[in-house]
Amino acid sequence: MSIPCISTTSDTRNETCWFDSKVTMSAKENKVHAFVRVKPTANFPEDMIKYGPDNKSIDIYIRRDIRKGVVNNKQTDWSFKLDGVLHNASQDSVYDAVARDLVSQALNGYNGTIMCYGQTGAGKTYTMTGATESYKHRGIIPRAIQQVYRAVEERIDQSITVRMSYLEIYNETLFDLLSTVPHDMSGDTHMAVVEYPQGVFVKGLSMHPASHEEDALNLLFEAR
Ligand SMILES: Nc1ncnc2c1ncn2[C@@H]1O[C@H](COP(=O)(O)OP(=O)(O)O)[C@@H](O)[C@H]1O
Ligand SMILES: [Mg+2]
Repeated sequence: MSIPCISTTSDTRNETCWFDSKVTMSAKENKVHAFVRVKPTANFPEDMIKYGPDNKSIDIYIRRDIRKGVVNNKQTDWSFKLDGVLHNASQDSVYDAVARDLVSQALNGYNGTIMCYGQTGAGKTYTMTGATESYKHRGIIPRAIQQVYRAVEERIDQSITVRMSYLEIYNETLFDLLSTVPHDMSGDTHMAVVEYPQGVFVKGLSMHPASHEEDALNLLFEAR
């Protein structure tokens, strides 16, 4: 059983999707939301996982390993408060619960981050990128891209330019996944995270104009 969490806690294995804007959110809206998405399994371990009322908490119980002569004081119970448990949830309903409001806030000028963490195989890539061969199973990033372009189309009174960057941080090293410059083995050392009063950005990261949803999706799926 494995659980990918969608939240803002940092981990070495994580997948993050930023929406950049200039304005900062008010303290009230700035609250971090945390969700647990449980990966579907043939037999759900009902004796080990219990969801609280309204699916706003999760209790986990691990059976104690009782080998003869060994004192085992390992923790066996955990309880977490959450904004929601996504159990047997479709990609569509995960997007509604986790991303739709955040993306629309980003379009109104608020910064937003969606981050996903969990052990290998827990479903982070499935949640964030999704299955590329099936439209129904596409993940948060392609859905967010679609929402952005739909909103741009609706705002006929404004002139909006969309640019896309795709950054990987692996073992503390920054990799520009859309770089047109060939990689050398030392990584993209010309890049640096810089803080300006206007916000944080990655100096040297390539930005690619994407006027249509299709351009952005091509960049996403051709990235390496
Ligand atoms: N909610 C889900 N429903 C169906 N299949 C899933 C789900 N989550 C993960 N999988 C499948 O489990 C496997 C591992 O998921 P993956 O997203 O690659 O894990 P991670 O990126 O966390 O290592 C993949 O084959 C993926 O398609
Ligand atoms: Mg993955």
